[in-house]
Amino acid sequence: MSLGPEHWEALYLEGRMPWDAGGVPAELDTFVDTGPIGRQVLVPGCGSAYEAARLAAAGSQVLAVDFSAAAVARARAVTAGSGAVILEADFFELNGRRYDLIYERAFMCALTPDRRLDWARQCARLLHPGGRLAGLFFTDGEASDGPPFGIAEADLQALLSRWFLRLEDRASTGSLPVFVDRERWQVWARNEAVVD
Ligand SMILES: C[S@@+](CC[C@H](N)C(=O)[O-])C[C@H]1O[C@@H](n2cnc3c(N)ncnc32)[C@H](O)[C@@H]1O
Repeated sequence: MSLGPEHWEALYLEGRMPWDAGGVPAELDTFVDTGPIGRQVLVPGCGSAYEAARLAAAGSQVLAVDFSAAAVARARAVTAGSGAVILEADFFELNGRRYDLIYERAFMCALTPDRRLDWARQCARLLHPGGRLAGLFFTDGEASDGPPFGIAEADLQALLSRWFLRLEDRASTGSLPVFVDRERWQVWARNEAVVD
């Protein structure tokens, strides 16, 4: 089972977006302020794409992707003038270009658990060796009735350690109610392992 664009499209059109923070998490501000961010940045499942605008304003070339047309319309309005490029596309169909940073927030937990290995593999495929996967992860191993679908911290470690080394891990301070006390800021560096 996976959730297609029509699932998310309906939620945007109904205005039911409990994940939408209306702005940028404090952890991303710190990450940007302490830099360097990396030149080429990808924001998958960007939703309203507040972070894409922030990252572009800091000087990165940002591609933000969502497969919901309504999300893309919101993202284009939010990022107008920032230089971020918003693309209506399926993250799993991206190829041909590699990035220095993939920013994650409420995208992985929007995927059904059977897509997790594909997600990790695609992140690894899209990053240069040494590139980073950074953002907020919904680390609630009990939250299986999603979306959002939580993942236990140990399972996230096991999933990513094939292609990544964890550099940072701390509790998030400003989570929305849907994620509160179960969201962690993490930064992972892509290793040299080949993606099969
Ligand atoms: C829970 S929302 C989070 C949006 C945004 N990241 C945020 O933090 O506000 C999940 C988003 O991922 C998008 N999405 C889910 N699967 C996708 C896929 N395979 N490719 C591109 N976008 C996808 C949905 O359309 C939705 O906008």
